[in-house]
Amino acid sequence: MKDIFKSPQAGSWLALWRHQQKMADVHMRDLFAIDPQRFERYSLRCGELFLDYSKHRVTDETMRLLVDLAQSVDLAGWMQRMRSGDKINLSENRAVLHTALRNRSNTPVLVDGVDVMPEVNVVLAQMRGFVERVRSGEWRGYTGETITDVVNIGIGGSDLGPMLVARALRPYAGKITPHFVSNVDGAHLFGNLERLDPKRTLFIVTSKSFTTPETLLNANSAKDWLLSHLQDPAAVAKHFVAVSTNTQAVSAFGIDTANMFGFWDWVGGRYSLWSAVGLAIAVAVGMDHFEALLQGAHEMDCHFFEQPFEQNIPVILALLGVWYNTCFGAHSHAVIPYDQSLARLPAHLQQLDMESNGKRVTRDGHTLDFDTGPVIWGETGVNCQHAFFQLLHQGTRLIPVDFIAPLRSHFPVGQHHETLIANMFAQAEALMRGKSRAEAKAELEAQGLSGPALYSLLPHKLFPGNQPSNTILLEQLTPKTLGALIAMYEHKVFVQGIIWGLNSFDQWGVEYGKQLAKAIQPLLAGEQPAAGHDCSTAGLIDLYRQASRG
Ligand code: F6P
Repeated sequence: MKDIFKSPQAGSWLALWRHQQKMADVHMRDLFAIDPQRFERYSLRCGELFLDYSKHRVTDETMRLLVDLAQSVDLAGWMQRMRSGDKINLSENRAVLHTALRNRSNTPVLVDGVDVMPEVNVVLAQMRGFVERVRSGEWRGYTGETITDVVNIGIGGSDLGPMLVARALRPYAGKITPHFVSNVDGAHLFGNLERLDPKRTLFIVTSKSFTTPETLLNANSAKDWLLSHLQDPAAVAKHFVAVSTNTQAVSAFGIDTANMFGFWDWVGGRYSLWSAVGLAIAVAVGMDHFEALLQGAHEMDCHFFEQPFEQNIPVILALLGVWYNTCFGAHSHAVIPYDQSLARLPAHLQQLDMESNGKRVTRDGHTLDFDTGPVIWGETGVNCQHAFFQLLHQGTRLIPVDFIAPLRSHFPVGQHHETLIANMFAQAEALMRGKSRAEAKAELEAQGLSGPALYSLLPHKLFPGNQPSNTILLEQLTPKTLGALIAMYEHKVFVQGIIWGLNSFDQWGVEYGKQLAKAIQPLLAGEQPAAGHDCSTAGLIDLYRQASRG
């Protein structure tokens, strides 16, 4: 923690730290008891997205100190630098402009003095033309059949965001079914292919770099599969398109560059679903819905860039996260959507948050001595209630939770939606209130227990409570509200990175494993000793070789 107290923001941290010592034993149950207006005071809205952050271990004083901290790191200056195309991704010397991809106001955004909006609009128009041809049946496969299935082949940011959105927006889908293949495990690709008709399948190879080995192996295997059925290399042009920034590599793969959708180095992989990387989404739900997704994100961008910190949803979420992470030592953060169609949200947010803020050095290369980005994890409610919620209620750790749900369902679901939402509200309340000794004892007495039987059971029936949570409600899960929700998390992560002094936009940490895999792969197939590897790795290589020899 020495770094914090040596930093230019030491005064703000120190004040926060002293305040934490006062707050450490305060129970939220008491904060609610003394303030019936807490819900009104600690809730915010952006369009059709509503945040209740009243179930936190905070007072007005806490929020004031957290906002002071944001001011002390010049958050407003960094927000402006991001918005206006400054190269804030210092280690890669790149601007960070996913907000330009959804800049529906079309105001100019300059990178190196050049407005990027005309290029953004050209690609959107190219996407619209293509999407409409595929959806209307004008685009046909090699044998003249219409397309019924589209397979996005990509990994990381070229997979998780598009998959999340395509699945979440299933009620808006037309006749074309999207599939997502990411894992280099052949079972993923071939498990999908065995259900598909090559004559009616379109592959979108999505890779910013077009050098990612997993994606290229999957794309090549998909091409072999297609050619084994259609028997003519000319079929590839009718069944493969690409989304990439690397024209040369796309062309070398054999995809007609007329069918390539470009984007730019100022779009990070995990922030790219708003670009042509979202092509599979657009094919599935149509371009109008894709643009509504952009509109929702744009509205959240406007909220983020224009609202004061005290009323700014991403800023408030980020500050609350910093409060628990840095001041209470919370190591993880759970994301629990009470909506089955948001099942992939935790996975997307894992990449977004952990690839952005899972870092130990500052922008200028100084190694930090305090914890930064938390472990993000989660699962859909109510399934998780019957799995890991025991630990949230009665375990030993402080784990802030985001509860997320739409108020209205798309489906004629009778009691299902009410049951779902009742459970979500109940969990947030139970985590906050807990159950006191007196309450638990009264319950056991009402069941007829007394004496040793009662007292031996009593400790197991106590709930300490005081577990913080956000409740994030959407009017309904629509393209617009989903766009706003995802953009909200992007900005939250950015704010936390600024407060901890990180560059949230590079990902050097994923390189080393890739490098070693390249060196190990030839050893698995060969005979030569695994020289240079430790005895554990060499032993494992040997076991694999023995197994593959049969
Ligand atoms: O391995 C990490 C990563 O670089 C991610 O950041 C990125 O989203 C993913 O790989 C895929 O990269 P590409 O789109 O270049 O294939």
